[in-house]
Amino acid sequence: MRKIPVILDGDPGHDDAIAWVLAKGSQQMNILGVTSVCGNQTIEKTTYNARRICTLIGLDVPMAMGRLRPLISAPIIAPTVHGESGLDGPALPEPAYPLLEMDAVSLMAKLLEESEEPVTLIPTGPLTNVAALLLAYPELKAKIARISLMGGGVQYGNWTPAAEFNILVDPEAADVVFSSGIPIIMAGLDVTEKAMIFPEDFERIRALGNPVAVIVAEWLEFFYQFHRGLGYEGAPVHDAVAVAALLKPEIMESQDLYVQVETAGEFCKGATVADFNGVLGKAPNAKVLMGIDRQAFVDLLVEAIETYGEG
Ligand code: BDR
Ligand code: CA
Repeated sequence: MRKIPVILDGDPGHDDAIAWVLAKGSQQMNILGVTSVCGNQTIEKTTYNARRICTLIGLDVPMAMGRLRPLISAPIIAPTVHGESGLDGPALPEPAYPLLEMDAVSLMAKLLEESEEPVTLIPTGPLTNVAALLLAYPELKAKIARISLMGGGVQYGNWTPAAEFNILVDPEAADVVFSSGIPIIMAGLDVTEKAMIFPEDFERIRALGNPVAVIVAEWLEFFYQFHRGLGYEGAPVHDAVAVAALLKPEIMESQDLYVQVETAGEFCKGATVADFNGVLGKAPNAKVLMGIDRQAFVDLLVEAIETYGEG
């Protein structure tokens, strides 16, 4: 089986962590590198978390730290959702693999240059690093097969009524990415809030019994506690959908749409505005995921987590 070459870029974050567990455990991805971005917490904290996750799952690939802050907007962090560490909950191993001296954008550029085939980027945090890459190395666009991102929502937001967190944190970066002409798979709130993992699924995962399974179950518990307070019946594992969309596109429903990022609005900054009626007459720039077979998604995750108990 031919593996999909990918770069994981995220701000872990419980759901970023689970997305990476899925990417590695699927055994269908060739993970070329991992980069951190500031979002859920400061860049120092998300980088430390990224390194701890990679150690936990045995992902020994080139890893580099992202930019200190969004391109233009002031940083926003999310300790209410992910805790002060950005990944509160179970104890994790200390980082065992090195962090490169080079920054995330330089690492992405190097990996793209070296790859013989176009690479898929999977950003599960603000789009700061990806936009900085496209601005600094426009010639490398041709080496990017697609961008499967978690961000936005064409119906509503979660951090403001109009904006989802990842896009709100760095709307200018999101604008660069959505205007890039690179094929985009948008795993926004429209689908990720349907990718709900229920408490009984946590137990199914915990029962797999391997160390990664037990920690994923505890991450889900932690993530659920916050969401339960908002009336959710489970944990929406947003970021894992951006990975699942590449592994099993057949379990998703989608619409090809032209999506524009609002960078300036008083009430709508960070909104991803979709032209459902084609009034702008522009070609679609994103495959917007709208639905998911939830049970198939959970099964995919369980199968991936099970592999951590093998050999
Ligand atoms: C997104 O925001 C973050 O808190 C999550 O990690 C996810 O990427 C959901 O809005
Ligand atoms: Ca994230």
